[in-house]
Amino acid sequence: MYQVIARKYRPQTFSDVVNQEHVKTTLENAIAQQRIAHGYIFSGQRGTGKTTVARILARCINCVNGPTPQPCGVCANCLEAAKGGGMNVIEIDAASNRGINEMRELNQSVLQRPASARYKIFIIDEAHQITTDAFNALLKTIEEPPEWVVFILCTTEAHKIPATIASRCQHFSFRSVDFEDLMARMAWICGQEGIEADAEALAVLAQAGEGSVRDSLSALDQAIACCGAQLHAAEIRALLGMFSLESLGQVSQALSDSDSRRMLDVVDELERNGHNLQHFSRELARYFRNLLVARIAGAEGAARLIAASQVQRQSLAEVAAGFSEEDLTRFLHLSLELFRDLQYSLQPRFHLEIGLVRLVQAGRLVPIEKALAEIQGSGAGSAAEMRRPANSVPPPSSPAVVAPKPRAGPSPFEIDSAKKAAPAPGSRPPAPEGDARERLLAHLVQNGLTHLADAVENSSVTAAGAELQIVTAKTYKMYLEDRHFESAVREVFGRPLRIKITVGETGSPPAAIPAKAAAGNGADDIASKALANPEVQRFREVFGGEVRKVRNLKE
Ligand SMILES: Nc1ncnc2c1ncn2[C@@H]1O[C@H](COP(=O)(O)OP(=O)(O)O)[C@@H](O)[C@H]1O
Ligand SMILES: [Mg+2]
Ligand SMILES: [Zn+2]
Repeated sequence: MYQVIARKYRPQTFSDVVNQEHVKTTLENAIAQQRIAHGYIFSGQRGTGKTTVARILARCINCVNGPTPQPCGVCANCLEAAKGGGMNVIEIDAASNRGINEMRELNQSVLQRPASARYKIFIIDEAHQITTDAFNALLKTIEEPPEWVVFILCTTEAHKIPATIASRCQHFSFRSVDFEDLMARMAWICGQEGIEADAEALAVLAQAGEGSVRDSLSALDQAIACCGAQLHAAEIRALLGMFSLESLGQVSQALSDSDSRRMLDVVDELERNGHNLQHFSRELARYFRNLLVARIAGAEGAARLIAASQVQRQSLAEVAAGFSEEDLTRFLHLSLELFRDLQYSLQPRFHLEIGLVRLVQAGRLVPIEKALAEIQGSGAGSAAEMRRPANSVPPPSSPAVVAPKPRAGPSPFEIDSAKKAAPAPGSRPPAPEGDARERLLAHLVQNGLTHLADAVENSSVTAAGAELQIVTAKTYKMYLEDRHFESAVREVFGRPLRIKITVGETGSPPAAIPAKAAAGNGADDIASKALANPEVQRFREVFGGEVRKVRNLKE
């Protein structure tokens, strides 16, 4: 009878179990000391050995030579545990037996002494699926179990086990299995089965499992069914909808060349070859994740973190060196979004095209610190230089973000924050009354009261003694009668002023306000002055766009 590989090669002893060293060692030591708990929780990703270890533990406990960390494997009790159940080792799949009746039955069964072994061991798989009532029924048994009972709860979702139960169990969490160990295990199994598979083919299968041994072994079954006794990476990739580093590398190449056109070709090629675009986006996200990890940790440092062979990790690290950490973070973020979008998309091709082109655009962004540093940098370096050159990439050792150059004067941001940190309005030395409008404006803008700022901007304002005279259009009058405005005035002038609002023509400002700060020709003057400012010009060169409005906040 044909038996799937995963079951055929279920480890029978702790030493066959790959990884999970912490679990194995702790259990072995406890058994050697005859310290056997009544409740265990095994949690972790599927296919990492929970059921397997539960059965091994059952053997260790019940073996005629036991309890022993080295069960004989041939006595009746060992055989019972290995085949997954009998009178003394009872396996329950909670996914299908999750109700209160099943738990009552279980409680009954718990009360009867084991017939032919020391312990009665209950292995409950998918334990998180047990209903709340059923858990409650079970609780009493777990609280005061008969001396001959051991529960092993296996689950992928430990947080769903009620605290009342969990607190009475020893908890072991199973990790997803390391790539290299998984490769070695698969190579061994292939050897046993007489299957020829090169390292790359094994790497593809190991990657397909994403840390789950069972999933990788299922992929191996599939590959053998499809390709026979000789496995090749390319065929397996096609079978499993995976992509080689070279094909994913086209995307990173297009990114470092800032070449949107190439991206469209990539999509076209995928379509023409009948590839699944969703699979591609999933693999792309994984690719950027691996690049980011390689960029941060380096090829060697990332050995445990990247599920890839040493050669692949090396090539990932080389590609990663061509991008900054920030770039790769952005790419990963965007590719995850793309993956999510594609899952629901009725037009996967369009989504993929947009997604890849957006990646190129994101790659063109210059770090803001760098942009500011350049703007400040007393004219050294032109805007053209600042745009990332199409194919030059920073050397691997270059810091991810270029530190701002030392510069002559404070930046606009520094001026701005200095303003925000200015002493409280009350302690401010009294300013000439002529500034009233500008001071008010600055305060309103800084506090995000934009509608009031708008109103003031379109009004003329004169402070005369204890009175603030405002001439404004009818539409703004209502805003200015608001108490927010009143308190803003109090803050700006350090005392309450009587606010006198008149509706009228605001075109010609009262004499008290300096002409340049007012509307009309004065405003044009300020605007042209501002536009002539070299910093403003560099901003426009770098970021593009147009200047819509010039507001004088400095006075
Ligand atoms: N840590 C491991 N070492 C070796 N093989 C494993 C490991 N984990 C899982 N397997 C393989 O996967 C199959 C399923 O494992 P199982 O223990 O049932 O996983 P789960 O964690 O989902 O209970 C096993 O039969 C075995 O072939
Ligand atoms: Mg299981
Ligand atoms: Zn035995």
